[in-house]
Amino acid sequence: MLYRTLKKCFIAIALATNWVSAAPTNLLLEELSRIAGQHVIYSFEGLTPPDQLFDLVKDGKVGGIILFKANVGNQTAAIIEKLQTEYKQSPYYLGVPLIITTDQEGGEVRRVPGGPDLSEKQVGESTDPAAAATEAGKEAQEALSAYNVNANLAPVVDIFRETGNFIDEFQRSYGNNSKIVSECAAAFISQQQELGIISTAKHFPGLGAAPLGSNTDLAPVTLNLSLSEIREVDEVPYTAAIAAGVKMVMTSWAIYPSLDAKMPSGLSKAWVQEELRGRLHFRGVTITDALEAGALDAFGDIGNRAVLASQAGMDIVLASQQNVTEGEAATTAIAAALADGSLSIEVFAEATERIISLRRGLIRRV
Ligand SMILES: *[C@@H]1O[C@H](CO)[C@@H](O)[C@H](O)[C@H]1NC(C)=O
Ligand SMILES: *[C@@H]1O[C@H](CO)[C@@H](O)[C@H](O)[C@H]1NC(C)=O
Ligand SMILES: *[C@@H]1O[C@H](CO)[C@@H](O)[C@H](O)[C@H]1NC(C)=O
Ligand SMILES: *[C@@H]1O[C@H](CO)[C@@H](O)[C@H](O)[C@H]1NC(C)=O
Repeated sequence: MLYRTLKKCFIAIALATNWVSAAPTNLLLEELSRIAGQHVIYSFEGLTPPDQLFDLVKDGKVGGIILFKANVGNQTAAIIEKLQTEYKQSPYYLGVPLIITTDQEGGEVRRVPGGPDLSEKQVGESTDPAAAATEAGKEAQEALSAYNVNANLAPVVDIFRETGNFIDEFQRSYGNNSKIVSECAAAFISQQQELGIISTAKHFPGLGAAPLGSNTDLAPVTLNLSLSEIREVDEVPYTAAIAAGVKMVMTSWAIYPSLDAKMPSGLSKAWVQEELRGRLHFRGVTITDALEAGALDAFGDIGNRAVLASQAGMDIVLASQQNVTEGEAATTAIAAALADGSLSIEVFAEATERIISLRRGLIRRV
């Protein structure tokens, strides 16, 4: 019920404030950053989160945390438990756990010890791909649960076009056709979520056509696929993933001129709202790829990027530079955009509710 209260407070703040003309008070910005923070996944450096991150969690300004290999040691499970406990004891606790996430795709892309041993490509090439994908979903859950991680930024549902291209280089794609990718994605998602781990289909609408070396982490990438090819090939696994109940979709930072010539998918209303929500009817939570990505160099600082993503309709932004400052910058900028009216409070409140409801679904686990 706490999330209903949150929404009521949120709307009360909106009504009580003349967004455009009033200079927002520090108190208002504090309250807004507690709402904005629910939309931000933070990261940190090394094995132990700094006090700063614990303080932000206790102050209700953190929605979740992403772990990388360098964050994972034999104390990690205990550290995560401590973060959840301190959050739970905070006056700003919303009644739902923090999202703790990582990339546990399989094969070479695994951040915590344990499975899935097979890469997605090996899963797709096995004699019974659906059974192998189900097994991979189970292995991912076992590995993640041991570290108190509750959300996986997997499966990759990109359809690779050329052997050895960007997504095939580390065997991250189940296959080169929609049928095999859809089948494996649905099996992995169903199993992993049945066992209590949030699944994420990525990278919408698809990175399978990106050539080797076209890495949005480093530089802008433009994929000149026709809209019909994107819809008939790349988007097919999203239909399967959505039918399987996938809880999150991660957008890519590539530009797809067939629908939007200017904005990368995760900053594009056309891709996020018209295509993913409108055409494919996705009702879950959307999450961006890394805000610090080189593909976004033309879109301002971290705060600007977080606001652009939120304006495009993205629910969660990923501040994954292994640095708490980045998450704070995103949170502060979103709060300021809510305060000055450049981000619609009504639309944002719907996203907040989706996020809280996603996290509410994690409670059954405990
Ligand atoms: C945890 O890891 C540290 C450093 O890697 C090591 O010294 C210590 O023995 C380990 N503790 C346990 C309980 O495994
Ligand atoms: C996928 O790869 C197989 C084996 O290399 C090839 O025969 C087939 O034509 C490819 N399919 C597509 C859609 O590219
Ligand atoms: C798409 O077209 C643009 C403009 O012609 C070009 O710069 C870019 O390299 C193309 N993308 C790919 C992946 O070929
Ligand atoms: C942390 O991240 C922010 C935003 O990405 C960046 O400006 C800053 O230089 C980083 N600080 C450190 C200490 O790495």
